[in-house]
Amino acid sequence: MTAEILAATEHLVLRRMTNDDAAALAAYRSDPVQARYQSWETPYPLDSARALIAQMRNVRFAQPGVWLQIGIETSGRLIGDIAVRVDGDQARQATVGFTLAADAQGHGYATEALRTVISLLFTEHDVHRICADCDTRNHRSVALLERIGMRRGGSPPQVSLVER
Ligand SMILES: CC(C)(COP(=O)(O)OP(=O)(O)OC[C@H]1O[C@@H](n2cnc3c(N)ncnc32)[C@H](O)[C@@H]1OP(=O)(O)O)[C@@H](O)C(=O)NCCC(=O)NCCS
Repeated sequence: MTAEILAATEHLVLRRMTNDDAAALAAYRSDPVQARYQSWETPYPLDSARALIAQMRNVRFAQPGVWLQIGIETSGRLIGDIAVRVDGDQARQATVGFTLAADAQGHGYATEALRTVISLLFTEHDVHRICADCDTRNHRSVALLERIGMRRGGSPPQVSLVER
C-alpha cells in the first residue's frame, strides 16, 4: 500500500502509517524497555496496532486536538514514529512524542525525524511552542530533547521540555 509522505530527509522517510505497518508497530511497542515510560501495556497486540492505524486514517497532520503517529521509515522498513498533537484550545502549541525500535537506536534517526517534524510545525502550521512530557529517568529521551535544543520546565521526575 502506498503511504502519504510528509517529508523525506537524508536517511528517512516520514510518512503516514498504513495497514502494512501494523506488525512492525506492534513489535516495537511490545518491547517492554521502549514502553517503560509510555502510555501502553506490553505486549501490544497486533489488533491494537491495526485499530490505531485505522483511527488515524483521516487525521490530518497538525489537526488540532488529535494525536497523529507519523511513521519513520528507513531502507523500506518502519522503525518508529513521531507522535504530534496540536493543542485543541491553543492551536499555536503542540506536543510531541517519539519511539524507535531498539535496533534502530543510536544512529541519530530520532533526532533527524524530530527536527524535521518540529520544523514543519513551526514553518507551515503556525505553531509557536512545542513541548514533550518526559520522565527525567528516561535518559535517552532527555538526551534527545536536549540535543535538539529543548529547555526543561516543571518538577522532576515528570518534566516538560519546551522549544521556543
Ligand atoms: C527516545 C528514543 C527515541 C531515543 O533514541 P536514540 O536512538 O537514542 O536517539 P537518536 O535516534 O537521535 O540517536 C542518538 C544516538 O545516536 C548517535 N548518533 C549517531 N549519529 C548521529 C547523528 N547524526 N545525529 C545525532 N545522533 C547521532 C548519538 O551519539 C546518540 O547515541 P548515544 O546515545 O550512544 O550517545 C529511544 O530511546 C526510544 O524510542 N525510547 C523509548 C520510547 C520513549 O521512551 N519515548 C519517549 C517518551 S517521553
